[in-house]
Order: sequence, then C-alpha cells, then structure tokens
Amino acid sequence: MASLLPTTATTTLQRNHTICFSPLKPTTPTTFSFLTNPFKTNPAKCNAFLDIIPKDMLDNTLHVDQVLVKFQSVTEDFSDMQRWGFVMLAGLTWLYLTARPGVLGGAIDAFLLAPLQLVLDSLSGRRSLKRTDFVIGDKLGEGSYGVVYSGVLVPNNGGDAEERVQKSGRGKVTKLDVKSKDKVILKKVKVGIEGAEEFGEFEEWFNYRLSRAAPETCAKFLGSFVADKTSSQFTKGGKWLVWKFEGDRSLADYMADQSFPSNLESTMFRRVLQGVNSSKRNALIIKQIMRQIVTSLKKIHDTGIVHRDVKPANLVVTKRGQIKLIDFGAATDLRVGKNYVPNRTPLDPDYCPPELYVLPEETLSLPPEPIAAFLSPILWQLNSPDLFDMYSAGIVLLQMAIPTLRSPAGLKNFNLQMNTCGYDLNRWREYTRARLDFQILDNDSGRGWDLATKLISKRGSQRGGRLSATAALRHPYFLLGGDQAAVVLSKLS
Ligand SMILES: Nc1ncnc2c1ncn2[C@@H]1O[C@H](COP(=O)(O)OP(=O)(O)OP(=O)(O)O)[C@@H](O)[C@H]1O
Ligand SMILES: [Mg+2]
Repeated sequence: MASLLPTTATTTLQRNHTICFSPLKPTTPTTFSFLTNPFKTNPAKCNAFLDIIPKDMLDNTLHVDQVLVKFQSVTEDFSDMQRWGFVMLAGLTWLYLTARPGVLGGAIDAFLLAPLQLVLDSLSGRRSLKRTDFVIGDKLGEGSYGVVYSGVLVPNNGGDAEERVQKSGRGKVTKLDVKSKDKVILKKVKVGIEGAEEFGEFEEWFNYRLSRAAPETCAKFLGSFVADKTSSQFTKGGKWLVWKFEGDRSLADYMADQSFPSNLESTMFRRVLQGVNSSKRNALIIKQIMRQIVTSLKKIHDTGIVHRDVKPANLVVTKRGQIKLIDFGAATDLRVGKNYVPNRTPLDPDYCPPELYVLPEETLSLPPEPIAAFLSPILWQLNSPDLFDMYSAGIVLLQMAIPTLRSPAGLKNFNLQMNTCGYDLNRWREYTRARLDFQILDNDSGRGWDLATKLISKRGSQRGGRLSATAALRHPYFLLGGDQAAVVLSKLS
C-alpha cells in the first residue's frame, strides 16, 4: 500500500539501467508533472542514492515497479486529479480494511488460514479424535451448557481406552500413571438443553480461531468429537471438546488460598524474591499476573474477539507461570459478527461492567456475516467493545490486591456499593466503611490504585474513559520502578 502513495520517487533497477519515475505518471523522458521525481532531473544524484541501497531492497522494488506499471496502464486516460483521487481512495480503503478489528485480517483468516488449518489438521489426524481415545476422570466444573472433566488421551491401538483401563483393574483415570502430556481437559456439551449445541459450536470456533491468531493466550485446543454410543459419561450424538491440560489450578483456586499471592511466587518468578519486604513481593507477584492478563487481552482484542467472561476461574495457571484464558463459549467476534446477540445476558454479573453488553442494547442484531464484517471497524470505533473485558480485568486486579473482595460475598457487596457510588472507584473508597487493606495498590505512589480506577469505571466517564488493553500496558503501573527492578534483576541473575 505504502508503495502506491509515495510523493517521493520510486527508484528501481532493471538490467543495470536505472529508471526513476513518478508513481502517477508514465515514465518517459518528456514527462513532466507536479509529481515528477526530483531524481529524474539529476541522474548522478539518483545513482549515488542507489549505491547506498542494499541490493535485496532494490530487487524487492521490482514488484512495486510492476504494480506501478499496471497502475499506470489502468489509469492511462486519467487526469492528474483523477489519479490522485484514485490513490486517495485506495489509501482510505486500505486504512479502513486494516483498522481495528481488521476486516482484511479476518477475511484472510476465514478464507485462507482456516481452510489451510483444516487441511493440515486432517492430514495430521487432529480432526479425527473419537470417544475411544479417552478415559474420563474427575468432574472439574459445570456451567449452564457444559460439564468439564479431566481425562487422559490414551494412544489407541484400535480398542476402547475406557474398557482397557477397566480390564486392567486400574479403575479411574486419577489412579492411572499418566504423563502430563497425555492429560487432557474434556468439555461435554449438554444434550437437550436449549442453546447448548450453539454454545459448543461457538466455543470450538473461537478455539480454532485463537489457535491460529494468538495461540499463546489460551489453552491448547486439541479438537472435538461426537460420541458414537452411550456409555459412562458419553451420550450418543453428544459433542465433546478437548484441550491440553494446562495446569492443576486456576487463578481462582490460588486466590481461594489464604497464602495468595505468595503461593504463586515461585511459579511466577521461578524463585523466592529475597531482599524485598513481603508487601512489595506481593505487589510484584500481582503485577506480574496482571501484566500477563492484560497482554493476553490485548492480543485477543487485536483479533477482534471480546472474551466476555474474564474472571479468575477462567484463567488457568501453568507450571511455568503462564496464565491461559479458557472458556470462550461466551466470546464474540465483531469482525465477523460471530456469537453476537445484543441482549444476551452476561455470564457472570460479578465481573460484568455497568453497561452490561459489548454493544449498546439498542444495537440491533448484526446483519449477515460479510456485511457485519465490513461494518465492524465503525462498530468498534463507536463502541469500543474490548472495554467490556477491561472492566472485568480491573475487578480481578482489585480482588487480587484486596483480600476481603476475594470471597463471593465480599465481591457481591462491593458490586452493590459500586452501583450506589455510580461506578466511581474513588467515591467507593471514601464511601466504604469496611476497613480494607489498600497497601498493595497504594505502593509505588498509588500506581496500582490509579490503574484500578481507570479500569473499573463507566466507559468515557473519565478523561479518555476506561483504558483499553493497549493503553493499560502503557500505564505507569506496569513500568517497573527503578528500585524494584534492580532488586528483582539482582535476584534473578
Ligand atoms: N485446559 C485446561 N487446563 C487445566 N484446567 C482446565 C482447562 N480447561 C478448564 N480447566 C478447569 O476446568 C474448570 C472449568 O472449565 P471451564 O471454565 O471451561 O468450564 P465451566 O465454566 O465450568 O463451564 P461452562 O463453559 O459451561 O460455563 C476451570 O475453572 C479450570 O479449573
Ligand atoms: Mg468457566
């Protein structure tokens, strides 16, 4: 694109002859226009310029040259004004198609990368999972539309994994001597529940989408299968989604422990942070977790996806201290209008921003996918749907930093008080009579508190409104204080 717009000359090399020309005019020695290349009047200058350009860069410009020649032949009968108009239009179109959430990127993904992934997965056998490949273990959770189990992927030599385990007398998967690479998480999509099938389809779609666009942000998706017969937890015709087992505990599990955040210290930093007092150590651990959450949100928002259910129970902590987002059944992709229902009830009211929906309620259902995709930059600019997740991320920060807010009752009470205070966190701090510990957020001149107030707020209520993930990562909270950095680095080195 940039190649179509330059007002300076484009220079290229063909068979050792130097050709300098304007992008908008045919290149003939007699050509003269306000766009004419300044080098053309001074070949010596042009050659000197070429000497300092690497050869491969010049080779690449051959393609630009071809495009320009084509452009010139197409616009042969155009006046200069018309040519400029043409270039401006092309430029604006490019800007529109690449603006957030990225219509062009979405189209490339949908029409090129997704089919390519399907072919590659089919060749590698990833799309041919079946019931008999798995032994189901403990139940880990149950939502409205699905039940989650731990399990094991047992290399299949034609038999039924469950039957083989039962015959060997070893019973439940928890008793199996499983290597962590074989451990999986399985989600059974409920059968006969209205909306469950659709929910499962969306969750699968979002997992494939993210495995292409931002794989490091979420649990590794292994694929899906439909149960071929009814036995134990399987119901014939029921769909199952499978992920790599990413870790024993979610952030909610760690937060439920009295020792949080110290219980994540060695996982996050690979060692105990000596030489720092405990309050600062806790603040550093929380900052490290928060940085990962916001970085992942930035990446998924960059792909046009809003998660809509960000909360500690949907953040799995890996052995290596990575935080993986899970549970994309409620996500929405405005780039293609996927899973966008304007008045769908939010999943967890405790983490939901006051506006309740990613787009204003009065927004009607999106038009069919291609049209929705084409309009998505306008919708994104007008409504910033990504800010929905940023409010939830702010609540996670507050819960991590203030122990009283970690319990369901504490959080519910907080939300009631926030409602009374008009979703102004500073007002809430003055209003609340509970004696809360703000020390972690007040550290470092209150940078943590400042970030919290800019996430947990009404959209647009402050200067600039609630922060996006990109803006949050630039907040001083994430810029490590010089003193702390020195201590941490000295311990890590
Ligand atoms: N890939 C994974 N690795 C490790 N643990 C996981 C993984 N996926 C899910 N879990 C665990 O299972 C729990 C439930 O998973 P998930 O959040 O996907 O479903 P849910 O919320 O119970 O159900 P629903 O999606 O129907 O609302 C998580 O809180 C987490 O502890
Ligand atoms: Mg969940």
